[in-house]
Formats: sequence, C-alpha cells, structure tokens
Amino acid sequence: MPESLPPHLQSTVNELSESHYFETNPCPPSLKAHAAAASAFISQHVSQNRRVVLVSSGGTTVPLENQTVRFIDNFSAGTRGATSAEYFLEAGYAVIFLHRQFSLLPYSRHYSHSTNCFLDFLEEAYTTTTTIPTISPPGSNRAADREEVEKENPRIQVPQQYLTPMLTVLRKYRRAKAHNLLLLLPFTTITSYLFTLREIAMCMRPLGDMAMFYLAAAVSDFFVPPSRMVEHKIQSGEIPQSVLDGRKDGKAAKLVVKDEEREQRSEKEPVKVAPGGAGQKLVVDLDPVPKFLKKLVEAWAPDAMIISFKLETDPSLLLHKCRQSLDRYSHHLVIGNLLSTRKYEVVFVDRQGEQWIRLHRYDDETDGSSAAVTGQQPIVEGEGDEIESIIIPQCVRRHEELMMRKSVERVER
Ligand code: PMT
Repeated sequence: MPESLPPHLQSTVNELSESHYFETNPCPPSLKAHAAAASAFISQHVSQNRRVVLVSSGGTTVPLENQTVRFIDNFSAGTRGATSAEYFLEAGYAVIFLHRQFSLLPYSRHYSHSTNCFLDFLEEAYTTTTTIPTISPPGSNRAADREEVEKENPRIQVPQQYLTPMLTVLRKYRRAKAHNLLLLLPFTTITSYLFTLREIAMCMRPLGDMAMFYLAAAVSDFFVPPSRMVEHKIQSGEIPQSVLDGRKDGKAAKLVVKDEEREQRSEKEPVKVAPGGAGQKLVVDLDPVPKFLKKLVEAWAPDAMIISFKLETDPSLLLHKCRQSLDRYSHHLVIGNLLSTRKYEVVFVDRQGEQWIRLHRYDDETDGSSAAVTGQQPIVEGEGDEIESIIIPQCVRRHEELMMRKSVERVER
C-alpha cells in the first residue's frame, strides 16, 4: 500500500484490501470447530467473571502450492507465546492459545524435544511382590526367574533429582486442565491464522474490556494469493509436453518458464512463481498481506486490551518501528524486541513513552542490546530466567488500569 496517501484514503485502501483478502482466500476447514470450542470456553469464563487473554504464538507459513510441499516459514518456535501463556494462567486469566501447529505449548515446552527431551527425565523400574533369595542355591536358575517376574510389572519413574521441578509443572498443567483454563487452537498458514483470529475476536466480544489480545505470533507480511497459487508440487525440471497435455490442471504446466519467455511477458502479466529447468532460478513474487491490527482494534475487538509485539534485527530501527505501529493502529501497547536479545530484553512502548525491561542475569551482556544502543538504562530489572515473568505482571497491571478507566467512564456517562 502506498505510504504517502492521506490517512482517510489509506484506511479506505486498507479496508478494501482486508475484505478482498477474506473474500478471495479459502476459509480454513477447522474454523467452525474452533469457533464452537472458543464460544463454549468464553461462555464459561464470562459466567465465572474471569478475564480471558488470546495469546498468539509461533510463525505463520506461506504455502507455495495448493497441495503444499514447500512453504515459506520463519524462525519462531513459539517460546514467547508458550511461556507467556503460563504466566497469564498464574495471574488468573483463562488463555486461548492460538498457536502454530507443533510449536511449543504451555507446560509441555519444559520437556519438549528442542530443549529437554522428556525421555531423558524418565527411568525404568520394576514392581515385584515376590521375595527372591539374594543367594541362589547352586545350579538354580533364580536369576532368570527374577527377571521374568520383574518384567511382568514394569513402571516408569522420574529420578528423584528431577521430581520437584517436574511435579511443579505437572500440577500447574493439571490445574489448568481441571478448570478448563487453557484452550489450544492450532493454525499453520497465514490465511488460517487470520481467519481464526478474526473469528475468535468476534467470539470474545461478550467479554468486553475483560478480554486481552497478546499478539506474539510472527505473522507473515507477504503471501501467494490463490489466483496465482499452483495446485501441484513445483517442478525443478522440464516436464514433457505429452505428460502435461494429459494433466487436468493446466496451471502447473505454466510454471516451467524459460528465461527468454520470462523476459517476453508483459509487466501486467508477470510470472509469479516461476521455477526454471535444471540450473534455472525459482522466482517467487509475493503480494503484501494487508495489516489486520487496525481492523482488530477498531472493528473486531473494540473494547479489548490489545498488545502487539514488534520484532526487528537492526537496533536503530526498533523504537521507531514500535512508535510507528502504535500511531498506525492506535492500540494499547507495543512490546519491541530484537532477534538477538529477545530472551532477556524488551521495550514497552505506549502513549506515555517507553520502558526498558531486562533480566539481571544478563546485565553484563549489553553488547548489541537495544538498551545499550539507545543509551537507555532498563527501568524494570528482574531476577529469574524468563523475561515473561516480568512482562506478564506489567501487562496485567496495565489491563487492570484500562478496566478501571473504562469503568469510571461508564459511571460518568
Ligand atoms: O518464538 P520466539 O523465538 O520466542 O520469538 C518470539 C517473537 C520474537 C516472534 C515475538 O516476541 C515477536 O516479536 N512477535 C512478533 C513478530 C512479528 O510478526 O512482528 P511484525 O513486525 O511482523 O508484526 C508486528 C505486529 O503486526 C504483530 O503483532 C502482528 O500481529 C501484526 N501484523 C502483522 C502482519 C499482518 N499482516 N498484520 C498484522 O496485523
């Protein structure tokens, strides 16, 4: 979208591109089931007067083919989202965890394949009720008998040294399940993420200002629109014409484009996904995904507290991009982070200004950190391993202030 348009025209263009996006992209098959699950979950928590936060987590994919073999992805494993969800649960919120399928989940993240494989925390044990003499009579085959008895009663147990931390996680997990405090909704593509976000935001409306959106997912900015999406796997080599002629889907045939053909095409009809034959390039031309934050703030969830994240790699851009996001979307808070320091340093940007947050244990590692680059000292410093233990109480406090302000406004009206 042209950045130079006056604001009223810019918003009209945005509006059109958003509605066009939903009209032209396929609705995910899981949407109805997700909406039904979310509605039931929200009704329960509305009736219990409990706050609900939607935490988005992990990265969205951009498929290159309809029957997707290849897709564009990003680095996010969902650590921020999964960790934050646990702290929200501890703060008394019910959590709708809108996450990339197979990314990290609250609680199980502590024993996932990427950090600690759960199998390394377990050992075999055997229960036996048979008393076996320690000294077997000569010639007896007691040892073999014992083995048989033991194998009939196998158990898996957690060695003592791992027990306390595992029990703590297990109890929190069981509590969340027992009280139905955590709803897991998976997405994979950018399209399924956006359709689901819109749908669930509508479902959350009855919560009013008791709803919060905490958007930690890494959302694709570019995608292949359906009109240019090929059905089948993109081929890297030439396919004989006789094979292509027999194919029902003519689109795929168009994909193998020689360099000279590519040059001959008019600008109006560019090749968007054009793999060449052996040694040729794959040219992927993507459209921008319309920005949905504005729509969320203004139309889908006008009463909710909305917090977005901003990820940058260049420290000199971070604050500017956070402020720009706040100005553009007029939501409540932007949490900025740099790829290299995101696990121990973030900056809160709102209308009052900015506030740096950093974990104590990383105080020495200021090289390249955003606070060091801007010369800012952290305003909030914290102990512990997880910066989310500081981020979430700050978000909760701001949410409470917002709810208080809104309730005063309601009384004054
Ligand atoms: O998983 P981890 O390793 O822990 O990493 C966590 C994280 C770095 C991914 C997380 O902390 C983070 O920064 N998430 C946001 C990353 C991101 O997508 O930034 P962005 O600048 O592309 O988008 C900013 C905001 O605009 C997002 O809140 C997004 O919801 C919104 N957006 C983006 C695209 C789009 N089409 N519409 C939007 O509204």
